[in-house]
Amino acid sequence: MAALVGIATLAVYLVIDRVRGHSRLRHIPGPFWAGWTDIWMLSAQLSGRMCFLLAEANDKYGKVPGPIAKIAPGWVVCGDGDELRRIWGVRSAWQRSYWYRGLRFDPHKDNAFSTLDDQAHERLRSKLMPGYGGKDVDDLHDQIDKQVAGLVSLLETKYLSTDTEFRPVDLARKVQYFTLDVISALAFGKELGYLAADDDLHGYIKTTESTLPIMLATALVPWFLYTIQSPRLKWLIPNVRSIVGIGTVVGVAYDAVAERYGDEPLVKRDMLGSFVRHGLTKEEAEAETVVQIIAGSDTSATAIRSTLLFIITNPRVYRRLQAEIDEGVREGRISSPITDAEARELPYLQAVIREGLRMWPPATAVLPKVSNTDQVVCGVRIPAGTNVAWAPFSFLRSKKTFGDDAIVFRPERWLHVESDPARHRLMDQTVMMEFASGSRWECLGKTVAQIELNKTYVELLRRFDFSLVDPTKPWTSYNAAVFIQSDMNVVVTLRE
Ligand code: HEM
Repeated sequence: MAALVGIATLAVYLVIDRVRGHSRLRHIPGPFWAGWTDIWMLSAQLSGRMCFLLAEANDKYGKVPGPIAKIAPGWVVCGDGDELRRIWGVRSAWQRSYWYRGLRFDPHKDNAFSTLDDQAHERLRSKLMPGYGGKDVDDLHDQIDKQVAGLVSLLETKYLSTDTEFRPVDLARKVQYFTLDVISALAFGKELGYLAADDDLHGYIKTTESTLPIMLATALVPWFLYTIQSPRLKWLIPNVRSIVGIGTVVGVAYDAVAERYGDEPLVKRDMLGSFVRHGLTKEEAEAETVVQIIAGSDTSATAIRSTLLFIITNPRVYRRLQAEIDEGVREGRISSPITDAEARELPYLQAVIREGLRMWPPATAVLPKVSNTDQVVCGVRIPAGTNVAWAPFSFLRSKKTFGDDAIVFRPERWLHVESDPARHRLMDQTVMMEFASGSRWECLGKTVAQIELNKTYVELLRRFDFSLVDPTKPWTSYNAAVFIQSDMNVVVTLRE
């Protein structure tokens, strides 16, 4: 009997909760079920097409007065770049929503991503910034050069095709090996060794690919998230070190941290050394080194793969970029390897980098913000406490901002707009939102990512030619907030 009463009470509570949720956002259009349940949003997250479905929701429902659509009770998605910049702005009234708690890699420890409180986050950032920015790291550029050389050498030694030999390579995987080695070398002074092993060491990639989609789905269900992160259930949740694959890499990270604390700490001028110097506790350093690996590998890898795919499949762009590189090499403006400063002086390369980030944004998680007072977004009233997600595939392909052919990969748009500084600034600010630039949460790894992008395309395209094995099937790409990509099978040949 008691059980029946309990179930009935819960059912009544749920119905009231849903009706209340529905009426709060009744005035905002969206898919029917999104008004009543989380099903639309959860199935979108699990479909592997979340970022595209959010953009489609904006297109379909968010026409008047602007691209904003309801995606679940208490959730809307906004696809307007100006409005999002205002919401994300440094001094705005908006905060990170509870969703970010789902980005705790250890359910009981916060990190830069999962810290909700603005002041605590600011304090943490101030300790992390000198390391990430490169000021405290002696050989930031050399470390990246070393890994770029590792990628080149892997292709040269194992995957060069000739007239008589066919040695296709899954470039998506090799690029991820490269970014994992870069970030581990910078994070704790020694690369994990993916490129040398030419293998998914410890099964880390395999495990993250299967756990990240679940982790990101969990973040969408606050009561579930709250439950699994409860200290009372600590005994039930596996320790992050015990998870196959991730655990091994986390173990390497924790061991590196352990060397830096204690009675005879190792002192090094790398990122971790900088974190220690700026007062990070051992627990914080453990959390941040794991963040570095996860935040700094998939995102950069996606940027490199997708931009390379757009280059390879656009002969005009491919020819022009290679010509710019060849000319730079001939005229002595490009060293071997290219320096970051030299790359910044190559206008077409810079246009290609921006256009690549625009066409295939690597950071596509919903990244919701909330306000504790009612607000107006796209001319629509947003009740306090509503999660406002973003839709990068909407604002980065906006015709208003990028022109009628916004859906086309055309780096030239960046060169032609230089005569119109206001428009150039708008386009630039819009693309740089991919790094959360202009906000309190700007990507700490932006400098590292930009150096990687500045060097990789040049070092690959000055040596090799790339073509897809099967242009009708360029890759397998699954969106789980970050992109999980593989099977980008490519033929690599040595240039004449
Ligand atoms: C193209 C590559 C990358 C993109 C597009 C990107 C994008 C982003 C975005 C959008 C955020 C803000 C998330 C939010 O708070 O809502 C962010 C934060 C962050 N990123 Fe990146 N990222 C990239 C590469 C990297 C790399 C290489 C690293 C590490 C070296 C890194 C480390 C971080 C960290 C630590 C944060 C948290 C910052 C904070 O909470 O204050 N990212 N990134």
